[in-house]
Amino acid sequence: MKLTAINTSPRKNWNTAQLIKEAVKGAESKGAEIVYFDLYQQERFTGCISCFGCKRKPNEGKCVYKDGILPILQSIRESDAVIIGTPNYLGQPSAGFRALYERIVFQNLTYRVDVRFYEEYKKPTLFIMTSNVPEEGYQQGPYAEMIKTYQAGLSANIGPTEVFICGNTLQVKDYSIYNWNMFDSKVKEERHKTVFPQELRNAYELGANLVRE
Ligand SMILES: Cc1cc2nc3c(=O)[nH]c(=O)nc-3n(C[C@H](O)[C@H](O)[C@H](O)COP(=O)(O)O)c2cc1C
Repeated sequence: MKLTAINTSPRKNWNTAQLIKEAVKGAESKGAEIVYFDLYQQERFTGCISCFGCKRKPNEGKCVYKDGILPILQSIRESDAVIIGTPNYLGQPSAGFRALYERIVFQNLTYRVDVRFYEEYKKPTLFIMTSNVPEEGYQQGPYAEMIKTYQAGLSANIGPTEVFICGNTLQVKDYSIYNWNMFDSKVKEERHKTVFPQELRNAYELGANLVRE
């Protein structure tokens, strides 16, 4: 069983990446073979460039634009399960996530009324989002709607998608060097010490659950 994991935070080992890596460990514990991408470490990449190569023979259903995202799309196609993580940037996934998402979704849309998708993929997928806003902020309102949209898009174009939100994250190591007064650094640090380790364990379990025994 092969699993592709993609970190779409520009930070290689912060909240999002740490949760993805724990989920990966969970999947590995069940025997999955992992291909891990740090999207922002890939060569130059872009969102969909509207070339429509994915809607013409012989590449129908497959993005053809050669950049840093193409190997990720290929790896997802060859995988049995997927983990994608992103920070919440201005109420949305990161720009890198959006670039990847456009490419994942658009390549699979047929633009036909009789059949909507080239492939009905069934790869179990874990979508992780981290943010300053706590998990409760996603129960209703714009964040809930936003998550629903991406969950539906990933479910339709990769496979049944589980969402894991980890809110109220520690954003920087040392809050004292910034002229900020929105956050109580003590509360953030305490949460990072006491709650975040539990979130890592949750991520591990969710990763393990992606692997069918
Ligand atoms: C450009 C930028 C925009 C952000 N916008 C939001 C936001 O709208 N809502 C929110 O809850 N957190 C926001 N955050 C906080 C991040 O989502 C949060 O710190 C996240 O855990 C960072 O992920 P990372 O540690 O993996 O890089 C923003 C951070 C940055 C850098």
